[in-house]
Amino acid sequence: MSLEHRIADISLHEAGRHQIRLAEHEMPGLMALREEYGDAQPLAGARIAGSLHMTVQTAVLIETLTALGAEVRWASCNIFSTQDEAAAAVVVGPHGSAEDPQGVPVFAWKNETLEEYWWAAAKIFEWPGVDEDASRGANMILDDGGDATMLVHKGVEFEAAGAVPSASADDPEEYRIVLETLRRSLGENPQRWTRIAAQIRGVTEETTTGVNRLYQLAREDALLFPAINVNDSVTKSKFDNKYGIRHSLPDGIMRATDVLLGGKTAVVAGYGDVGKGAAEALRGQGSRVIVTEIDPINALQAAMDGYQVARLDDVVGSADLFITTTGGKDIISAEQMRQMKDKAIVGNVGHFDNEIDMAGLAALQGVQKVEIKPQVHEWVFPEGHSIIVLSEGRLLNLGNATGHPSFVMSNSFANQTIAQVELFTKTGDYAGADRYDTDVYVLPKILDEKVARLHLGALGAELTELTKEQAEYLGVDVAGPYKPEHYRY
Ligand code: NAI
Repeated sequence: MSLEHRIADISLHEAGRHQIRLAEHEMPGLMALREEYGDAQPLAGARIAGSLHMTVQTAVLIETLTALGAEVRWASCNIFSTQDEAAAAVVVGPHGSAEDPQGVPVFAWKNETLEEYWWAAAKIFEWPGVDEDASRGANMILDDGGDATMLVHKGVEFEAAGAVPSASADDPEEYRIVLETLRRSLGENPQRWTRIAAQIRGVTEETTTGVNRLYQLAREDALLFPAINVNDSVTKSKFDNKYGIRHSLPDGIMRATDVLLGGKTAVVAGYGDVGKGAAEALRGQGSRVIVTEIDPINALQAAMDGYQVARLDDVVGSADLFITTTGGKDIISAEQMRQMKDKAIVGNVGHFDNEIDMAGLAALQGVQKVEIKPQVHEWVFPEGHSIIVLSEGRLLNLGNATGHPSFVMSNSFANQTIAQVELFTKTGDYAGADRYDTDVYVLPKILDEKVARLHLGALGAELTELTKEQAEYLGVDVAGPYKPEHYRY
């Protein structure tokens, strides 16, 4: 039987394979895990439903999971983030061909509609035979932003209620599509999601926004299976969110606009991990950076780092560039965009597209949208001036560029891989004291330190070793962990 998939163009697989080969060289953490666990096959029997940007780096993650024994189905977690050549290479696999693909079923392409996006999200749960026997379906989720996890939870909720509710007038367009997707699947099999959820041993979640959703579910006692918060491994959020964005944000802005950043005034909304990387990158290019914050601690950090901290309304008419990084909503309103300077650039790198009010912008009387090129639009106001909006308000570092580079993603994805192994092997029939129950966990610090260790050699970094006496003096083990849980790095 030919391999199920839906991607843009399978003939791109060779280009994708070359990029994957180079990425493997830059992903020492993942390659070391293949070496360490390849024989033991700890993920044998794991059927992972993955929802994460289908990039070259993710291809190396997917092939690491399969090298450890897992079966995988994959969708992207953003309509613009797929690299079509990477998707093609993953479908073909290292040993297949375009005529005889032998890799992994992928349902992702760049520039999906929202309907297609949610179709693909449902597709990663449609394992062959699952409707007859749910134990043939997914037993693990690997998620980025929580959409796959949300789909399962909403499916179960609506099945318990006996019906999918109608959308209310206030619900965003995308939520209507989610409801429609679930209505369709329930029509086909009324207990589908309840059966699928019962088989799922756990989810490993990549990003801040997805993790927030998981903690909300846990607080409401509505979480259906154990979860590992990969984002808050130190080697994830303090690296990917910060150093990753420091690379991929200017990359996205430059590929989209080619505007010189030096001398420009840039507003960065939010000074968390992503905001810190964004501000540093823009300052590095010679921009004068202004930060907006709602949290006094982060605001003080920004001030101490030398940035002006201001309210958006006070600087909206004078800045050249606006980047949202908050993970919150309604950060830049349509009216504020209207007040911006002619040709101001507006973009977002927070997970969802609700930071910039795109619907409000589109609804302004007399506004015109001109496509400069895909994912770059000029919005012309009736008064005559215009602004440039990147990736329609969605993650611009993935929509206008190719996301974070391999080396930093090797850290994130080494955490993902270890988290998948932890959850898959320490749930189900496992009875050890370190079994994962239905709650949200972070990886033990010793594993976080392990991920960092796996990356030092490639950078020529030589670690100093504690002596036994020094370790005793500090009250730690020579082999780690070296810091208490509350240490903040
Ligand atoms: P964080 O929680 O560390 O930082 C967000 C900051 O925004 C906080 O300091 C918060 O106080 C501030 N904030 C919230 N509402 C605000 C408002 N109305 N105005 C100004 N500031 C406000 O979160 P982190 O890790 O920096 O992630 C931010 C977002 O970026 C999340 O959605 C996350 O999922 C996403 N992300 C995106 C990546 C990418 O590649 N584009 C990579 C990693 C994370």
